Amino acid sequence: MDNPFAEGENRLIRPPSTAMIIFGATGDLTQRKLIPALYNLQLDGYLPPGFVVLGVARSELSDEEFRGRLFQSLKEHSRSVIDLALWETFSRHIFYQKLDLKDSSEYITLKKRLAKLASERGEDLNYLFYLATAPEFFGDIAANLKEVGMVEDPISGFKQTNIVVEKPFGNDKESARVLNQTLRNSFAESQIFRIDHYLGKETVQNILVFRFANGIFEPLWNHKYIDHIQISVCEDLGVGSRAGYFDKTGILKDIVQNHVFQILSLLCIEPPISLSDADSIRDEKVKVLKSIRPFSEEDISKNVVRANYTRGFINGVPVKAYHEEAGIASGSQTETYVAMKLEIDNWRWAGIPIYIRVGKRLPKRITQLTVNFRRPPDSLFRGRQVELRQNALSIQVQPREGITLGINSKPPGPRLRARPVNMDFAYGSSFGVASPEAYERLLLDAMKSDATLFTRDDEIEAAWDVLMPVINHWSGLSSSPTLSYEAGSWGPSEAATLLKPFGHRWERF
Ligand code: BG6
Repeated sequence: MDNPFAEGENRLIRPPSTAMIIFGATGDLTQRKLIPALYNLQLDGYLPPGFVVLGVARSELSDEEFRGRLFQSLKEHSRSVIDLALWETFSRHIFYQKLDLKDSSEYITLKKRLAKLASERGEDLNYLFYLATAPEFFGDIAANLKEVGMVEDPISGFKQTNIVVEKPFGNDKESARVLNQTLRNSFAESQIFRIDHYLGKETVQNILVFRFANGIFEPLWNHKYIDHIQISVCEDLGVGSRAGYFDKTGILKDIVQNHVFQILSLLCIEPPISLSDADSIRDEKVKVLKSIRPFSEEDISKNVVRANYTRGFINGVPVKAYHEEAGIASGSQTETYVAMKLEIDNWRWAGIPIYIRVGKRLPKRITQLTVNFRRPPDSLFRGRQVELRQNALSIQVQPREGITLGINSKPPGPRLRARPVNMDFAYGSSFGVASPEAYERLLLDAMKSDATLFTRDDEIEAAWDVLMPVINHWSGLSSSPTLSYEAGSWGPSEAATLLKPFGHRWERF
């Protein structure tokens, strides 16, 4: 047997034998995420015996040198301790091919190499092309693969060929549309897997199970019972080594357009026809995105706040201002924080404020969605020492994966009082196992051609549609300058004014 660790039912849901070809294989993503994810899939027995990883990049490297590099970074980034015997087995599936991404003639060598690897294994391999390069190469790679005949027709092809594309998926609506078209010139939509790693997180996948496997919440999941929703994606890290990319992008495009809108749409979708058919779920998500009320100029001034951080302290350690980070353009207006209020104009959600807050260099890392329910009438408790809080259902995506329901309860004693307490579910204590990394699930699904957790072309474009008025406003002359907030604070004070008119305030963590 190929993997001595691969016992049990995990073997039953293995994908077919696949060659995963990683373009940009010497980059950060391969070392930090992709190889650790594959190693842990192998550890859990999910990979098929004939799998191949072929790293592709411009550097001249032997297979052994490539494996050596991966081993070093794997030790640092794997969620499980490295077992040397397993690494030995696993690394024999990894190969390297030097390639100039733009030169179509070199793709013939790639094709031959893959054919050789398949014949050594004595079986046909599906191809999973993984584009971990800068987006400007996506078009050339897709076209070159098609030109040398490596893209099987998904209907008549005897094997499956899929392509995985990393974000950023466009820089605005038009560039996303062009990129979609470019990829579809070589691949069918059913072969294109656009990664949003938030969809691979267990806690995000659980939103659908939580909503549709529990009868008690769905009747309350609408404007009659819900008062408002908050989504917070807070990070204590700054822009780090990605300053060049980030300064051209900003947090609105980096996190809101993709991760936040994905979790928002799962939280707010109508029940899909099926949970096992990718398009049923994606059809419903698109409807949510298309129902978000378009931002008017007035909404943007009143309901959207952008800022970047000044110097401050995180956990007592001094940190630089955004403008002092290496690689940030002087006078940059790029936002590292956004707060916004939006509304979904459909029957279920009409009139419910949805507040989004996303920022870097905030006091701590936490991603949480909180659904706040309407208050009960307090007439029964009037005149007593009680403070009835809104019932709040909080889904904590990270770092403490779990769900908490905030209720009011009587503290012990002779007097009738009420105090807020929590009913709590934590993944760690309930399931007793560590959640897999998002990339583990996503790679497995892409090998199995299951697109449920990947974003479809129209979802991407609908998400850009929502944000284009804000992006255009910010780049116009009438836009007010980016505000600032101290690193280690919860953002600019102006963010609180979004909620004030409705008697709400940002959740405290
Ligand atoms: C990435 C963004 O997509 O997600 C980063 O480009 C961000 O800026 C990261 O830090 C957050 O991911 P996670 O899984 O750490 O919440």
